[in-house]
This record gives sequence, C-alpha cells and structure tokens, in this order.
Amino acid sequence: MAKYNVLILGSGGREHALAWSLSRSPLLSKLFISPGNPGTAAHGVNVELKPAVTSTSGSESAGVGDKDTGPDAWFEAVAAFIREKNIDLTVVGPEQPLVDGITDYLETHGCKVFGPSKAAARLEGSKTFAKWLMHKYQIPTAQSVEFSGETVLDDLEGWLSVENDNWPVVIKADGLAAGKGVFISRNRAESLDHLRRIREDKTLRKAAKRVIVEEFMEGEEASVFAITDGRNARLLLSAQDHKRIGEGDTGLNTGGMGAYAPAPVMDERMLQLVEDTILYPTLGAMQLEGHAYRGVLYLGLMVTEEGPKVVEYNCRFGDPECQALLPAMKSDLLEVMLATVNFELEKTLVEMSDEHFCCVVMASGGYPEAYAKGMEISGIDTVSEDALVFHSGTRLEDGKLLTSGGRVLSVVAKGPDLRSAIDGCYREVEKITFDNACYRRDIGAKGLKRL
Ligand code: AMP
Ligand code: GLY
Repeated sequence: MAKYNVLILGSGGREHALAWSLSRSPLLSKLFISPGNPGTAAHGVNVELKPAVTSTSGSESAGVGDKDTGPDAWFEAVAAFIREKNIDLTVVGPEQPLVDGITDYLETHGCKVFGPSKAAARLEGSKTFAKWLMHKYQIPTAQSVEFSGETVLDDLEGWLSVENDNWPVVIKADGLAAGKGVFISRNRAESLDHLRRIREDKTLRKAAKRVIVEEFMEGEEASVFAITDGRNARLLLSAQDHKRIGEGDTGLNTGGMGAYAPAPVMDERMLQLVEDTILYPTLGAMQLEGHAYRGVLYLGLMVTEEGPKVVEYNCRFGDPECQALLPAMKSDLLEVMLATVNFELEKTLVEMSDEHFCCVVMASGGYPEAYAKGMEISGIDTVSEDALVFHSGTRLEDGKLLTSGGRVLSVVAKGPDLRSAIDGCYREVEKITFDNACYRRDIGAKGLKRL
C-alpha cells in the first residue's frame, strides 16, 4: 500500500483535530504540523517554517505571514520544506493563506494542496464577490446593496442617513477582518455608530474598500460542511457554532465557544434543499466562472421561512466545528483528501457516524478582550478515553502545560443523542482546571430546544 507524507499548516484546535484524524489513517507515513501546538505534537512532528534570514541587520527571521516579509517568503519556506521532506499532501487549516494564494503557489511548485485556489477562496475572502456570484446564479441569500470606489464610506453614510428605511440592516466589510467586519444595525443611529467604528479602525478601513449592506434575515443559523473536488461533493454533517462569549448568545463575538453536530434544524429535507439550491449551484457557478472550488466548503446558513439562505461562505473547516465533525467521520480523512486533490471524489464515499457530537471550548477568563496567560492546566489525563481534548492556546514549559491564548482547549464527547453528548462533554470539561477558565454552559441548548 502506498503511504503518504502530509503537512498541516496551522496551530489551533482545528489543526489538532486534523492531525488526530489524519494520524489514524493507514495511508499515512509521516505527519508534520507547522507551527502546530503541544496537542498536535502527539500525532506528528511540529515544525517552525520561517523564511531564511536574508538581511544582515541582525533581526530574527520572520514568522508565518510576517508583515515585513509578506506571505511570499513564507510560501517559499513551506515549498522548500515540502521538497526536503517529500511531502505528498499539504492541508491548509486557516483562511488567510488560502486567500493569499498558497494553493496556487505550492501547486506551481508541484505540490498537492487540500484547499481552494486564490480565486476560489474569494468566496470567503471577498464578500462582494460571494454576493455577486449568488445574485448571478440565483443562489438564495439576503438582498443587498454594494458600495465601492473612492468615496465608499461617504456614500454609505449618505445611504444610511437618508435613503434607507428598512431596519435592521447588516453592514459587511468586503475583506477578511478576523470576524470583526460584520455589524447588525437595528436603526439609523446604530448604523451611523457602526460606520464610525469602521472609519476609526485601521484593519476595518482596509477591509471596507467595498461594503455590502444586507437585509437582516430572521431564522436559525446552522452550518453545513462539504468536501468537494470541484464537481463532486460529499456532505459531512451540519453543525451549530456559538459565536458569542456569553450564555444565551450574549456579549462579544469570539472565534467560537463550542459546537455540536448534527444540528436538528438541518433535517433531511432541509439538507436536501441545501444540496439542491446552494451547494451544487455554488460549485457549478464556480466552475462556469473558471475557478472550480476544491477543498472544504463551509456554508454558513440561515434557515428562514423561505428555506435555507447563505449568510456566508468559508473556504476551510470552522474552528471549533471541525473538532466536532472529524470525530464523527468514519471514513479515512486522508483517503478522502487524496481523492479530492486527485479529482476522484466521484469514486469515494464519505461515511459519517449517526451519533451526536458536542464540543465545548475552554477559554482564558477575559477573552475575547484582554486575558492573562501562563496558567497551569491540569486534569487532561483524567478525561475519559471516549472523549477528546484538542489544544489551541497551550504551550509547554519545563514539562508543564500552560495556557497561551484566548481559546485554550476544545473538549469533545459523543453520545447516542444530543442530550447525552452534551452531558458527557460537560462531565469531561469539569475534570480540567486552570485559573480563570471560562466556558459557556449552554452549548447545544438550542438544539435540545428544537427536539
Ligand atoms: P458573517 O461573517 O457574514 O457570517 O456574519 C457574522 C454573523 O452575523 C453571522 O454568523 C450572523 O449571525 C450574522 N449575520 C450576517 N449576515 C446576516 C443577515 N443578512 N441576517 C441576519 N444575520 C446575519
Ligand atoms: N467557527 C467559525 C469559524 O471558524 O469561522
């Protein structure tokens, strides 16, 4: 049997789940993760990939995506490592390198990459592109207006202050803004306050060279994940993320505080509608536009009275949704990824478990605002064998595991139904301790309500 060397790019809980899943494959030879974290080190070799130092100024070589060297120097360091270690497949975890074009770069250097091309990653990287595509191909989504050009924010201000009478609206900056580029404005005054925040924030101003204003869609949110080679697609599961820090979906937005899969709101009829009216039309549209989409397509959806509509596309696995989805995958992830990059998904089935999965994120108290790092984590070794603990913001120092980020760990448990998956998950969470640990106690509650 042929064996494959794999490189995963990224350092979060998603990448730990990818490493865990790929390490179970009989097709795997060597696994590298860059930069990885203490959790991924249990499944492969963590490597720092920095561009070679070219200056003589005595400064340290730059890190991933470093702003002084830009992504290209880092891409070259990745390509050099791929050549050195005979990597057969590179799996890109986060969106930024995909949007920056890492897939195109590595492919022109003869490497296979699981992840969309730069042009295809615009589905996530440019909200105006995604909106344009959906309108052109009649893929259900919110109605919207677009602003662009030199005076984009002034034009938007005029429209919000005088022309618009339909509230609430959703204001979205075009480019990647680390989850900060979307504002739901309930009335005119709020919308002008949101506009002021865009003007005052450098990152947001950059992302807001184009802006979309959308109709607010009423309904329940859920995501659906598919793996696709451009033509064929395999649905994984639906899932529900919990973006706010506070219970009952209150407080500030975070990277995601927990997830469960599948989401009861996505019943079989709804999933069929998603495939027929959203997934395949999107893949077809991308093909027709000359940018066939390959990799994971994350459909962020609103289940409205008129059926499912697209809130957003993402061009990679969600974090923490990935931590709940991959343990549910019965098929060999490496085999599925190889089939994807070789355009052979048609011949490959993806089998998912019919159990239920719950993932609770344990974070540092204070997150998503300022928080302390360096708290010692204990209790992971007491977690039940049936549960999984994926690392995000952790580091090892003198043999001790310490917190080193906002989101610290993702704890995942399964059960025959959602209730038991949730209860099992919290039983494990309670065994793990670190100072100021915080987590939401209502992960999955929305799903239970629906049952
Ligand atoms: P996005 O980054 O586009 O996913 O937006 C972030 C969050 O804003 C989503 O997860 C939704 O909760 C909310 N949102 C975005 N667009 C809409 C919309 N048109 N109607 C209702 N809520 C929305
Ligand atoms: N959990 C949301 C995301 O990964 O975008």
